[in-house]
Amino acid sequence: MKVIVADDYGMMSKEAAEIVAAEIRKKPDCVLALPTGGTPLGLYAELVRMHKEEGLDFSCVFAFNLDEYIGLPEDHESSYNFYMHDRLFNHVNISRDRIRIPCGLAEDPEEEAAAYEWAIKRAGGIDLAVLGIGRNGHIGFNEPRTEFGSLTRPIYLAKRTIEANARFFQENPDAVPRRAISMGIRTIMNSRKIILLASGVEKSHAVNQTVHGPVTEMVPSSVLQLHPDCTLILDKDAASELEPSPNGFIPGPGIKTMVY
Ligand code: GLP
Repeated sequence: MKVIVADDYGMMSKEAAEIVAAEIRKKPDCVLALPTGGTPLGLYAELVRMHKEEGLDFSCVFAFNLDEYIGLPEDHESSYNFYMHDRLFNHVNISRDRIRIPCGLAEDPEEEAAAYEWAIKRAGGIDLAVLGIGRNGHIGFNEPRTEFGSLTRPIYLAKRTIEANARFFQENPDAVPRRAISMGIRTIMNSRKIILLASGVEKSHAVNQTVHGPVTEMVPSSVLQLHPDCTLILDKDAASELEPSPNGFIPGPGIKTMVY
């Protein structure tokens, strides 16, 4: 597992944007899996800048969201559909028919999830999955105890996740949906390349368990230790609990790279 530690949030976001942009340049019709939450906001802002100022071309890119709340319409301000359009899709030249986000209002969420999993397969599988991480080590909405063999499916959110996400429902923090459709652990692990972003000291424990902890379904992100091409991109605070790498680190301006 490769770990990049950036001096601050801005550098972490730039580093992540470089990796996403490199993937798009290498394979213009690449398939991306994309996260929501506070952490990737800087990454999306940087990708929008790269599109506007450097001509980064999203016209052939396929984008699959990691997850979506069940019960929220697309245009609800706290839906992940709204978030992705507001932060990224409305500002780059991605083709609308290459954007897939689970439908939160699907009559049959099981069926919607199965169709989503199938759509990922039909697109050729995920080339690059970009992940955030919850304080309990969740990735996507795969909470502790999720089976490593899981595929896209409807899930129940953990109490801690509902509390953490209440900040995105300012008009009514009690309105956080209890359910979501999420890519499964196996769906994510099938990606050819994975990057995980984490910022802030409140993520440092989960990051430490991801890198050093036992691989266990109690910490979903620990499964990433088993992936052949996974890079964590952290700011200093999120990296503060990590043991120094026995392999030393490769320094760079504002960042250092370690291999565990
Ligand atoms: C949510 C999302 C995850 C995200 C996590 C962390 O629960 N489903 O995909 O990684 O929150 O969010 P934040 O970046 O706001 O800490």
